[in-house]
Amino acid sequence: MSQSIDHLLTENRRFAPSPEFAAKAVAGSDLYDAARADRLAFWGDQSRELLHWHTPFTEVLDWSTPPFAKWFPDGELNVAYNCLDRHVEEGNGDRVAIHFEGEPGDSRSVTYAELTDEVKRLANVLTDLGVGQGDRVAIYLPMIPEAIASLLAVARLGAIHSVVFGGFSADSLRSRIDDAGAKVVITADGGYRKGRASALKPAVDQALSDRGEGVQATVESVLVVRRTGQDVEWQDGRDVWYHDVVPQAAAEHEAQPFPAENPLFILYTSGTTGKPKGILHTSGGYLTQAAFTHRNVFDLHPETDVYWCTADIGWITGHSYVTYGPLANGATQVLYEGTPEFPEPGRWWDVAEKYGVTILYTAPTAVRSFMKQGREIVQKRDLSKIRLLGSVGEPINPEAWMWFREVVGGDVAPIVDTWWQTETGAIMISALPGVTETKPGSAQVPLPGVAIDVVDEKGESVGNDAGGLLVVTEPWPSMLRGIWGDPERFVDTYWKMFADKGYYFAGDGARRDEDGDIWLLGRVDDVMNVSGHRLSTAEIESSLVAHAATAEAAVVGASDETTGQAVVAFVILKESFLKSNTADGLATELRQWVGQQIGPIARPRDVYIVGELPKTRSGKIMRRLLRDVAEGREVGDTQTLADTAVMSVITAQVR
Ligand code: WTA
Repeated sequence: MSQSIDHLLTENRRFAPSPEFAAKAVAGSDLYDAARADRLAFWGDQSRELLHWHTPFTEVLDWSTPPFAKWFPDGELNVAYNCLDRHVEEGNGDRVAIHFEGEPGDSRSVTYAELTDEVKRLANVLTDLGVGQGDRVAIYLPMIPEAIASLLAVARLGAIHSVVFGGFSADSLRSRIDDAGAKVVITADGGYRKGRASALKPAVDQALSDRGEGVQATVESVLVVRRTGQDVEWQDGRDVWYHDVVPQAAAEHEAQPFPAENPLFILYTSGTTGKPKGILHTSGGYLTQAAFTHRNVFDLHPETDVYWCTADIGWITGHSYVTYGPLANGATQVLYEGTPEFPEPGRWWDVAEKYGVTILYTAPTAVRSFMKQGREIVQKRDLSKIRLLGSVGEPINPEAWMWFREVVGGDVAPIVDTWWQTETGAIMISALPGVTETKPGSAQVPLPGVAIDVVDEKGESVGNDAGGLLVVTEPWPSMLRGIWGDPERFVDTYWKMFADKGYYFAGDGARRDEDGDIWLLGRVDDVMNVSGHRLSTAEIESSLVAHAATAEAAVVGASDETTGQAVVAFVILKESFLKSNTADGLATELRQWVGQQIGPIARPRDVYIVGELPKTRSGKIMRRLLRDVAEGREVGDTQTLADTAVMSVITAQVR
């Protein structure tokens, strides 16, 4: 079977960097030249420039036992020192690190000096609880400054954090605690979501009480932050209030150097099937690429910018672009606890206006939900300080890209569409603002020092104007170092497909356009085969979103007697459209629309107008479940859905 993916949509809009932006841009095209001249020397130079090494490295990469890489193997550093102490020592202690905005409206600003102080005390507390180099600490917290402090305190000790998203259940928490063998859990009584105090501590209690058969209990202490003040059960001898011990702890804590390859964190990804994988990242290479990309892709001017990444700390984006990247670069950032629409749909824009956000990094799912609500909500706020926008997590449809630029970016802010994964640790493909002429919907070019290709099933480049499989052809500094406790699964999952070439296979389909720019086409598992044509979900969804009535769309392939598979579409309509129109006849119109826009082959067999789409907690559409509905099957495992009720609503609507 050919792996090439047919190309259907053509996008001709282009946005060159403005001369004013380019004149002040952090990144220049010289970065590409330097990386091309000597890739490893380039990363070595970047690392020395961006980080403080207690013991300088003499070697950049040891790739003698692929796919197990060692970056900067003989160097030593302290990750937390790089994110905190050195900024204070360089005279920037008074700079705000975090503008925290709680969902109920409470707020506080934490300077680099204050955050450093907090992390030192917390590191002393964790030491007293028995945490040392290599020990695992599970973190189950809302989006509050203590979450960032916790990651850094663990890192400071050379220990390993495993953050579990606060929306996950006791069961998910338990399996992650057990897999990592965590010694300490850091949690809170609860956090605020959608106007209510939602509890966290009971899930920890439950996770720690119902042990599985034969599973060794490893957790010795639970450190509890008081956030909501709600009642909690207490286990003496195990549970400790954060506020009882951290302010009282010794203020002095000297950061010790650890080897570059000392593990920094485990982060579990559920993937689409199977047992969660504990993706393992280490210190020196990870921090190098997180800092490099944060600085260059977001054009960070740390003295003046106010940066806001809306991701939760429970995802990789919250690790690399809320914690390590921004803090290594001495950035000032906004941390918001709650949901975008509480107490009303404009909350995010109130936050952005209040703090004068200049750089906003978010996900296409958020952009599309704002499109659904209408541009007036955004336009009521003063967002004139915004000068750069970023997108991550899914392909951003050209129409959503245009809306983001016009409505949020005031028609001037460049957009960087950043492709990467939990496994890659940091951004791999993106425009460089001030350098790259951007194209709506395309992630565009590998970053300097990153080697990407689009290949067929034999690993041969497909060349320009063709689709295939996205691979990384050379090791990169922030690459995953393994799957916790399962080296075989690591090799099988990512390196087996192109073992002879030594390529990392990302699981995504992609296309190079005639300029060689890269367009992400969605997960290869979601590619549809209609009458022998391999069609990507991304392009048909983009076509649907380009219709004036549509805010969001998901398409899947459902088995079909004549065509093998047929395209089935699920669409959400814009509220503004529904105000003055009915949805009657719209399904037919949308079928024709796609047929005209991209061709009869892509025309959906069925179009269902729905109120919601099934999404994971990080906002990715779960097409597997829609396929079940489209094929009339019972809907499969919905555990990883953000809202498990959504599928019954959709099933009812479709019937
Ligand atoms: C998808 C998120 C298109 C892709 C950082 C990838 C994207 C998966 C983009 C990783 C993008 C991420 N354009 N698709 N800009 N960014 N993806 O591990 O399928 O949560 O493999 O990491 O998200 O998701 P993860």
